[in-house]
Amino acid sequence: MAASMARGRRARSLRARRGPRAGYRGTFLTPTRGSSELRYVSDGLMIVGEDGRIESLEPYEEGAFSGVTHDLTGALVIPGFVDTHLHFPQTRIIGSASGPLLEWLESTVFPEEARFSDALFARDVAEELIDQCVANGTTTAGFFSSSSSVATEVLFEALEAHGLRAVVGLTLMDQNCPDALRVDADTAMAASRDLVARFHGADDGRLGFAVTPRFALSCSRDLMEKAGKLAHEHSLVVQTHVAENERELEAVRAAHPWASDYVEVYEKVGLLGSRTILAHAIHLSGSEWDRVAASGAKIAHCPDSNFFLGSGRMKLDDAKSRGVSVGLGSDVAAGRSFDMRRAIAYAYDNALILGAPKTPGELFTLATLGGADALGLGGVVGSLEPGKDADFVSLSLPPWVNDEPGALRAATFASDASRVERTYVRGRLVHRTGADG
Ligand code: GUN
Ligand code: ZN
Repeated sequence: MAASMARGRRARSLRARRGPRAGYRGTFLTPTRGSSELRYVSDGLMIVGEDGRIESLEPYEEGAFSGVTHDLTGALVIPGFVDTHLHFPQTRIIGSASGPLLEWLESTVFPEEARFSDALFARDVAEELIDQCVANGTTTAGFFSSSSSVATEVLFEALEAHGLRAVVGLTLMDQNCPDALRVDADTAMAASRDLVARFHGADDGRLGFAVTPRFALSCSRDLMEKAGKLAHEHSLVVQTHVAENERELEAVRAAHPWASDYVEVYEKVGLLGSRTILAHAIHLSGSEWDRVAASGAKIAHCPDSNFFLGSGRMKLDDAKSRGVSVGLGSDVAAGRSFDMRRAIAYAYDNALILGAPKTPGELFTLATLGGADALGLGGVVGSLEPGKDADFVSLSLPPWVNDEPGALRAATFASDASRVERTYVRGRLVHRTGADG
């Protein structure tokens, strides 16, 4: 049903909808690849080609560019935020304080996710989700859908139409969950293959399918092995949760006695590799961290969620000292906001509490380029550099911003004073705040 409808009205690609080569004049702040330094240009011009890629970003010079120039001089322009981890079917249950994790899943999350087999319901929520992301300046997201293939297809269709960049997974679960959510391995794999065929790589790579075992507890070994095989066959991102909560660890040990620790579950079934992104990673042993690092897997750090569910505190240095890539995740709905600047603030607090403070610049980088790297998109987005796709956000520029530290404060903590005004993906406007923007 929805499948054939989708084929009929498949959204035209953003690249096909080429815009004129255009300039954007404003104040710019961006991470830079291969350096921990940010780049600040107080009055700059970014030129975006017809294909939506950045051609250059240089100090503004009167008369140097003859094309159409958009005046963002009242704005601070930054790369779009990358939310590496959040749950589509939890859009409407933010703030349900029924944690810790396993109780919260049982009492709040699973009943809500069961509603997503209804395509019309899923469609409404997909619109809300995408609106929330772009209104908060997120241009790339890693989404878990529900276990319903219909809901997942609905989300892909909405993303095709709205222009947000995303990696999306059908959430795999065949055990330790209500019947309404349980999908056996063969059915889930057939649905996954169909979704890969239809949506993976859509719009010149703007959309991707991710193999998404919910977590080891809700997946049989057979399901995870099949999922690992699918990921290898198509070189897909794998996204899942790991070591979030101590009771979860015990339950995983009991469910998978053939593995000596949590990471070994994913290793043995072929789910741990350089395209794997693991959410939380709070309660990993040193040996597990070493093996995560050796595999090239990445981490989605979700500090708001970790506070809200009382899960514990991830030490960023466990990852950093081993060279493991980290991005930030809102983890809606255990995270209470779609605003990645809130994620930055919680990551800052989390690091402070651990006695290992992080600078706002480091965290701004995690929320943009770090997240892009974690999702395998570091060469495509995450910073405003020539050759990358022009995924960017304009924030209102408070009058007190007149240097790099001021811009960094606005881009990280001062979201009340510096609001998202416009959000662009590949140079195409996907959100504008207010009537005249
Ligand atoms: N572990 C398994 N499922 C979930 C989920 O939906 N949210 C969080 N935070 N952790 C999980
Ligand atoms: Zn999650």
